[in-house]
Amino acid sequence: MSVINFCIVGLGRAGNFHLTSIKLLKNANLLSVVDTNSTLLKQVGAAENCNTYQSINEALADPALDAVVISSPTDSHYDYIIKSLNAGKHVFAEKPVGHALHEVAECFDLASSKGLALHLGFQRRFDRSFMALKETLPQLGNLRLWKASSRDNPRPSIEYLSISGNIFHDMLIHDFDMLTFLLGAEVPEKIYATGYAHDKEIAALNDFDTVLVTVHYPNGLICSIDTSRISAYGYDQRLEVFGEHGMVRAENQLDHTLQLSTAKGTNISVANHSFPQRYKDAYMEELKQFTVGIETGVLNNVSKQECMLSHLIADAALEAALNNKVVDFKKEYAPKLS
Ligand SMILES: NC(=O)c1ccc[n+]([C@@H]2O[C@H](COP(=O)([O-])OP(=O)(O)OC[C@H]3O[C@@H](n4cnc5c(N)ncnc54)[C@H](O)[C@@H]3O)[C@@H](O)[C@H]2O)c1
Repeated sequence: MSVINFCIVGLGRAGNFHLTSIKLLKNANLLSVVDTNSTLLKQVGAAENCNTYQSINEALADPALDAVVISSPTDSHYDYIIKSLNAGKHVFAEKPVGHALHEVAECFDLASSKGLALHLGFQRRFDRSFMALKETLPQLGNLRLWKASSRDNPRPSIEYLSISGNIFHDMLIHDFDMLTFLLGAEVPEKIYATGYAHDKEIAALNDFDTVLVTVHYPNGLICSIDTSRISAYGYDQRLEVFGEHGMVRAENQLDHTLQLSTAKGTNISVANHSFPQRYKDAYMEELKQFTVGIETGVLNNVSKQECMLSHLIADAALEAALNNKVVDFKKEYAPKLS
């Protein structure tokens, strides 16, 4: 297996967990890092003994570079994906790919025309519990109800929130990707969503911090997904699917497995604090699969159709919440898939 030379663009929360993964992968070498923050750039460059650049263009000019991990803020993704692919580099990009549907399509089309890998950071697909849950679904027969809770912790900075899009495209996009991953890219019939901003800073951005979405499928499956930007008891990520022959549930990951029982009741551990702990293994696995994909020609971990579908579900849920209406997804959004 040959060694793949990586560049990480954006060294914040996401850049950090990708840095950890690259260091642990035997066939990966961190050739360079890019960040607009010169102090952070210097720090990471010195610690990792790699090349440092303030502009992605300089990093892409290096012929030794094979693959780029794009973990800079969301509003740079589309531009950086296109630039990296045009420079002949394989790309692993954090979600979401872009702010508009045509950007998603363009990125996939360019990667495919150049024969380069474009993998996306939908790490829940690599989480052991969700992968096992997918295996059990056929046993449930006709699926009837889906109950997901996705409550983040801690609240991201207001600087992050102001350029991340909105709660539907930034956060719930993971849940919409789970719908397409677990249900096999089924197209919904109708979508409703409602939201509220308890946090004044989030309200000032005209965004929500608390949202409930319902997604109806033509076969009768009704999905409810609730989300919050903050959760006092730790990172909360649960999913229950109920079907004709049974039910399957993925519970929260706890810090440890101790259970203390006394006359006052039973105490268990807190849930993992945040996503770097909850998805540690999944982040590692998604990058490992990216390197395998480069070696074996598996160009995508999420298909263009799936990525466009979850983007459109986010568009429709946003429209529903802003206008307090049930959106006819089949009629108004599904035609945009072709
Ligand atoms: N998959 C996940 O679980 C997950 C988790 C967190 C964030 N993300 C995604 O990762 C991306 C980054 O989020 P974050 O939380 O790490 O943000 P962050 O604010 O913690 O870090 C962003 C970093 O990028 C740098 N930066 C800013 N503009 C830049 C530019 N134009 N070029 C290069 N670097 C630049 C900043 O200095 C900072 O170091 C977002 O798109 C977000 O959606 C994904």
